[in-house]
Amino acid sequence: MKDHYPNPGFLSFEEGKVNGKVHWKSPSNIALVKYWGKYGMQFPKNASLSMTLSKANTQTSIEYYSTQKKPTREFYFSGEENDAFASRVWKFIDSVEPVFPFIKHLNLKIETSNSFPHSAGIASSASAMSALALCLVDMEKNILGTLDNDYEFEKKASYIARLGSGSACRSIYGGYGLWGQAKSVHLDSDNKFAIPYNEGIHPFFHYLKDAILIVDDSQKEVSSSMGHSLMDDHPYSDDRVAQADHNLLELAQALKAGDQNVFIKIVENEALSLHALMMTSDPWFLLLKPNTLAILNKIRQFREKTGKFVAFTLDAGPNVHLLYSQNDEVEIQAFINNELRPLCFNQQIIFDETGGGPQKII
Ligand code: DP6
Repeated sequence: MKDHYPNPGFLSFEEGKVNGKVHWKSPSNIALVKYWGKYGMQFPKNASLSMTLSKANTQTSIEYYSTQKKPTREFYFSGEENDAFASRVWKFIDSVEPVFPFIKHLNLKIETSNSFPHSAGIASSASAMSALALCLVDMEKNILGTLDNDYEFEKKASYIARLGSGSACRSIYGGYGLWGQAKSVHLDSDNKFAIPYNEGIHPFFHYLKDAILIVDDSQKEVSSSMGHSLMDDHPYSDDRVAQADHNLLELAQALKAGDQNVFIKIVENEALSLHALMMTSDPWFLLLKPNTLAILNKIRQFREKTGKFVAFTLDAGPNVHLLYSQNDEVEIQAFINNELRPLCFNQQIIFDETGGGPQKII
């Protein structure tokens, strides 16, 4: 960590001399080429590409106040104390202290909340960790007067978000985010942080709708860390990296060419490959539910019948993201309501879309 962002040295603050508040809203994202498997300090085994969402987001604020006494810490999730969540956040904040040496001189009050219900089965770590990282780099900007340039600010926010949760580093950018070294796709791509991937994208893909079909709203059966570790000794580990590299290049070309068929082919292959890797791990995990399979089949039948652009993707769970164009919104929402909604748990669907990236509130 020190190699990339050196500690600017000892800092001491007089009581209350440094104080302020930062507040960010940061979105979740859905991977089109999946990050699955990591090594070292949260480096990905393969590069991934995601679409940033709009409505599924986390808002986080940090109030800070310098002190020469033992600093105090307060944490609230949706206005309430939450020990489990707090301990994850403080552990992360302690871990990035070498990068933000001022942290140990500050009383901190963190308030955070999600726009989506905790039980909705949406992974919240991408939005939560990106919002927290943005607050931390914004504090650095206020306190040390660094990171004046947007590019450096976002790069460092993405770097810090990655340390909190790999997928979070892609949420720093609106549109599409690319994380991991893939020089054939973009010369600036890097394992340490994500970069925006929006230049030259065909207008058809500038903006997509994403209906998140909630098949099961229970907590994740497999934690991300556990999931990634399954790739360490996986028999298909090397082939997976080769497959992801190939899929990423094809998808990047399809996004630029506006090739809808290749987009569908790659995105669905990535979703099913992620689950195939889990099913063939030791121990194995089978996270697809009967209604997940029923939904996937209905999506394929609908596409074959109508010729419409519909593509599904999946996270490490049973819920389905259905991607479609706003040009077909009326017809596809009718399909969703008539055929897919009955297969969802409590008929739950979250309608989201491509988002413009995080927003600074204060
Ligand atoms: C299946 O980013 O949640 O959603 O780095 O351990 O926090 P950690 O993992 P996490 O993994 C996300 C895996 C995925 C695919 C993806 O988002 O690329």
